[in-house]
Amino acid sequence: MNLPAPDYILAIQPYEPGKPCEELEREYGISDSVKLASNENPLGPSPMAAAAVSRCLKSLHRYPDATGYRLTRQLAAKLGVAPANIVLGNGSDDLIGMLARVFLQPGDEVLIPKPSFLMYDITVRAAGAVPVYSPLRQLVIDLEDLAKRLSPKTRMVFITNPHNPTGSVVTRAALDSFLAAMPAGVVVVLDEAYVEFVQDPHSPDGRAYLDENRLLVALRTFSKAYGLAGLRIGYGIMPQAVAELIHRIRQPFNTNTLAQAAACAALADSEHLAQTLKAVHDGLAYLQEGLRRMHVHYFPTEANFFLIDLERDAAAVNQKLLRQGVIVRPMGGYGYPHFLRVNVGLPSENERFLKALAVAL
Ligand SMILES: Cc1ncc(COP(=O)(O)O)c(C=O)c1O
Repeated sequence: MNLPAPDYILAIQPYEPGKPCEELEREYGISDSVKLASNENPLGPSPMAAAAVSRCLKSLHRYPDATGYRLTRQLAAKLGVAPANIVLGNGSDDLIGMLARVFLQPGDEVLIPKPSFLMYDITVRAAGAVPVYSPLRQLVIDLEDLAKRLSPKTRMVFITNPHNPTGSVVTRAALDSFLAAMPAGVVVVLDEAYVEFVQDPHSPDGRAYLDENRLLVALRTFSKAYGLAGLRIGYGIMPQAVAELIHRIRQPFNTNTLAQAAACAALADSEHLAQTLKAVHDGLAYLQEGLRRMHVHYFPTEANFFLIDLERDAAAVNQKLLRQGVIVRPMGGYGYPHFLRVNVGLPSENERFLKALAVAL
C-alpha cells in the first residue's frame, strides 16, 4: 500500500516492551512465570490506591477532571512547588510526546545519551527531528561529551537520572556545570522516572532546578516506585511558561479518573513507598550477593534494576531463562550483547532468577 506518511515516520522501529507473563506462558506452555523486565514495583500498588480506584468505579460515565485539580495540588504541596509548575501526563511517555510536539520541528537536533530509554528516539523521530547520540562513558551519561555535540540546531537534550538501562547517576556538580553551559533556547528534559530509589547523596534532584528563566523540565512517574504502571500517570515539573504551552496542545482528558484518584492515594501512602524502597534495596543486596557467589559480574545501580555482564552472548542465556519462566531484558538491542537488565522482584522472584541463571549458565 502507498502510505502517505513522511519518510521519518516510515523509518521508525516500534518500541519493544518487556514480554508479558501471559505471552511467555502461552508460547512455552508453562505457568507461574516471573517478570523482572520492566522495572515495575514488585509489591504491587498501594492498597489505598486500589481502594481509591474501587471508589471511582461508579462515576466512570463522567469525564475525568481535565485539570487534575486534586492531584496537581497534592503533588505541589509534597514537592514544594506551585501547582502551575506541574503538568500531568498519561505516563511520563505522554509528557515526552507533548514536549516534542511543543518544541520540535523537522530538522531540529536533539541530544540523547546512547543507549537510553528508547521512547526518546522514537518521539524525536516522530517529530521529524534528528537524534544526535552521545555514548555513555563507563555506563554513565557523559555530560561533557553531550555538551560538545551542541550545534545551532540543538533544540532539546535528554538526561535520565538514574539512567535507564544502566542505573547510573550523574553528580549534582556535573549537572550544574552542564546546565551553566546550555545556550538559551535548548530544552533540558531531566527524566527522573527512578528518582525515588536513589541513595547517592551527590545525585541531583530535579526540583532544585525549577527556575522561571531556565528551560528545564523534570519528568517523574507513578509507574515505578508508586506501582501504578497499568494506570498510566506521570508528571512534569517545569517553569509556568512551559506548562502553559503544553496545556495548549494537551488532550484535555489525557489522565483518566482512576489514575488521578489512585495517584492521590498512592502519594498519601508513605508506608507503601517505604516498604517498596526497603524491598528494592534489600532485594538488590540479595541479588548482588548471589551473583558475587556465582562469580557473575554486575554493575552498581541507584535504581530498582541493574545490568549484569555475562561475558558471553546474553541472548542465548535469555532463551534458557525464558524456558524456565523467568523474563528479564536482554540488552543486545541497546548495544550490549553480553548484558542482561534485571529489576528487583519479590524475595521469591529474586531467588527464582538466581536459580534459573545458575541453570542457564
Ligand atoms: C527512563 C524512563 N522514562 C520514562 C519511562 C516511562 O514511564 P511511564 O510509565 O511513566 O510512561 C520509563 C519506563 O520504563 C523509563 O524507564
